[in-house]
Amino acid sequence: MKIGSLDVGIVGVGAWQAGGGAWEVDFAELRKAYEFVLDNGVRFVDTAEVYGNGKSEEFVGELVKSRPHVVVATKVAGFNWNKALKSAERSRRRLGRIDLIQLHWPPPFYVPLCKAIRELEKVVANGLAAEMGVSNFDSALMEEALTCPKKYDLVSDQVVYNPLQRAAERLIELGRRRGFVVISWSPLAKGAAVKESLGRDRARSMDSAVKRARSPEGRAVVATVRKIAEARGVSPASVVLAWHVAKGAFPIPGVKTRSQAEDVVAALKLVLTEAEVKEIDEASRAFVAGSLWPGVMRAIPGFLQKLAFALAKI
Ligand SMILES: NC(=O)c1ccc[n+]([C@@H]2O[C@H](COP(=O)([O-])OP(=O)(O)OC[C@H]3O[C@@H](n4cnc5c(N)ncnc54)[C@H](OP(=O)(O)O)[C@@H]3O)[C@@H](O)[C@H]2O)c1
Repeated sequence: MKIGSLDVGIVGVGAWQAGGGAWEVDFAELRKAYEFVLDNGVRFVDTAEVYGNGKSEEFVGELVKSRPHVVVATKVAGFNWNKALKSAERSRRRLGRIDLIQLHWPPPFYVPLCKAIRELEKVVANGLAAEMGVSNFDSALMEEALTCPKKYDLVSDQVVYNPLQRAAERLIELGRRRGFVVISWSPLAKGAAVKESLGRDRARSMDSAVKRARSPEGRAVVATVRKIAEARGVSPASVVLAWHVAKGAFPIPGVKTRSQAEDVVAALKLVLTEAEVKEIDEASRAFVAGSLWPGVMRAIPGFLQKLAFALAKI
């Protein structure tokens, strides 16, 4: 798959876990997991300035130094929409390079959208990133955002998408027509789409899909995924990642262990049949409706968002 000019393969990885704030991690194991994926066919890694206040970017920067084939994506926090250049400069110092710069969430309600997009455009114009995209924009906001850039295109929108949260499907359709890629965050619903027993990481308390997985409809989704995995002799996580590919999205799972990393690599070779995709679609039909996170964030002034993030330590 291509995100603008960037050749990204069919499955990437996300590195929020390396921020260490909202996730319980063993850093030695985490490093082994990311080294394994990036040395075995995965060529895209996502991070953000807010993950561990730069700690995740430092982790990714170390990893990609000796791996020039890896496409590096990061994000300017929504409250920094008017300081995108400065943010990107700091991020580039930690990462070494930025291929895709994304606005992490829409700017506060009192900011004209095009003003924020043009601030992002300056990052590309100044040679700090090759491509630009957004994150957490729903279809209506994305239609508006696509009218904003003067010189460079918006090539991606990173939103929540998994079998327990399918509200992004209208956006995927829009992306097909308008030439941008939907990058799926929390593609495994933080593990809830593939297993019953979950750790108590704080990140999970922020995600409604984790709760939904415990409903009868949610349990049916997990059971369907696990049934297909067993029949194909692969892991449930590989099945869900292959489902994303079939649906036209680009998943970026977070991994903590070498065994989870192996599941991501296995997904690169797994193609689901039409019948298998349909089975997961039918089991997860209840989760097509809904809205994308973080609608409510736009209502919060930027300085309060910044304070909330500093206190929340994600
Ligand atoms: N743009 C945004 O607003 C936004 C928001 C959230 C995330 N993201 C990005 O998306 C990436 C992925 O999202 P995410 O980390 O929230 O969720 P995810 O990828 O759906 O879930 C990751 C978690 O699932 C478990 N897991 C991973 N592989 C597994 C496997 N093979 N089998 C079973 N369990 C497995 C691991 O936790 P345990 O080992 O504890 O079970 C892991 O920490 C992030 O790293 C970040 O880059 C972006």
